[in-house]
Amino acid sequence: MSKKLWGGRFAKGTDPLVEEFTKSIQYDKKLAKYDVLGSLVHIQVLKSAGLLSPKDFTTLNNGLKSILNNIQLGNPIVHNEEDIHTFIQNVLQKSVGPAALKLHTARSRNDQVVFSVKLYCKDMLAEAGVEIIKLEKAFLGLAAKYADVILPGFTHLQHAQPVYLKDYLGAYVEMLKRDNQRLQDIKETISLTMGSGALAGTPVPAAKYSVKIDIPELLEIGVEKISAPANSLDTVSDRDFVIEIISALAILGMHLSRLAEDLVLWASQEFDFVEIDDAFCTGSSLMPQKKNPDVLELVRGNCGRLYGNLVSVLAMMKGLPLAYNRDMQLDKEPLFDSFELVSIELKVLSGLVRTLSFNKAKIEEHLKDESLYATDLVYYLVGKGVAFKEAHTIVGNLVKYSLEHDILIKSLPEKTIRQFSEKLVKQQIVKLFDARVSVKGKRSIKRRN
Ligand code: ARG
Repeated sequence: MSKKLWGGRFAKGTDPLVEEFTKSIQYDKKLAKYDVLGSLVHIQVLKSAGLLSPKDFTTLNNGLKSILNNIQLGNPIVHNEEDIHTFIQNVLQKSVGPAALKLHTARSRNDQVVFSVKLYCKDMLAEAGVEIIKLEKAFLGLAAKYADVILPGFTHLQHAQPVYLKDYLGAYVEMLKRDNQRLQDIKETISLTMGSGALAGTPVPAAKYSVKIDIPELLEIGVEKISAPANSLDTVSDRDFVIEIISALAILGMHLSRLAEDLVLWASQEFDFVEIDDAFCTGSSLMPQKKNPDVLELVRGNCGRLYGNLVSVLAMMKGLPLAYNRDMQLDKEPLFDSFELVSIELKVLSGLVRTLSFNKAKIEEHLKDESLYATDLVYYLVGKGVAFKEAHTIVGNLVKYSLEHDILIKSLPEKTIRQFSEKLVKQQIVKLFDARVSVKGKRSIKRRN
């Protein structure tokens, strides 16, 4: 392993297995850009505090900017350093020489890690917001395309009442809106500070950390200013923001898993409500006829991984003494994994949803089930002055009779129907077995559009 950020007090080198066991560069290399951006701000603080000469500032500034440029060009990061922060320090040292030794003045990786991860989160949260809105649009496009389609709604996965397909799809839009709100609220509450040091603060006066940002890459992430911490111990040991984010991503993943399950069911031969585009399905190596919803099954399955990531960070943080502990290095893989998983799911689902094709004829067939209109019969009787509970029992008896005798209510003789209630006029009730009439009768909904 190459040069460490520590080592002066050690009499011998680190055991290679310990190096292997403790290093995090294989995953925290994702923080490269954010670490350099943090350093660009840090040297401004050092300069204004008189801890860095204008000449050294310019050297470090140029060196860091060229590293940033290399990162943005996608140049590979070699894996033999302890972590990304060490890697960047060493690269800078190689390119600008002794001035780089001043970069770590009044700074600790404990603070540097929190700052970089917070920047990464702000960036990824904005990106997630964009992807969520794309999926919302896919739903809205589909809802508009099938605006007149009504389908059986379910409770307990049993036929319940007819609903508009656009409302069903709209339910997922509502979930996504809440998800996005949750994520963007978290983004707003992430506060960026510098000056916590390892845990006790630094000798630099707090006012020097009030930096107005003019670095374009930071402004792009929405960072306009940073400040000194209110409590340095809390700052370096706080991972609440990570937990909040992976919790919100787990909720989002839960919504996507419900969508996946609805579509898996709807695409089955038993329902046959919808056809998933070939581009979003996979086949079977054995059964030539198969067209499987593997994408949706993976979305459903990955939800478990999102929950696992949340539980893993919650468990890792539990009972840690203040302030920083190395355990906290283990927050990164679950965090990155949750972001990346949700990001690809949102993208792939946008395409899948946009290309769904509904089988209107088959859906119409399902709508013939009279049980879907039983509640409308109850409302009909209520309209005629029958108490709701009484009406419920009357219709329940009527449904039971129809099932036992295997005759549709619509086909029962007027006389038989009247036996259940004098108020049931056959000519009127047959009109109620109609999905359009049923949905039009539901006037309590204040739709967004
Ligand atoms: N790579 C570590 C992390 O991600 C930071 C190292 C801080 N190390 C330390 N011994 N204080 O948490």
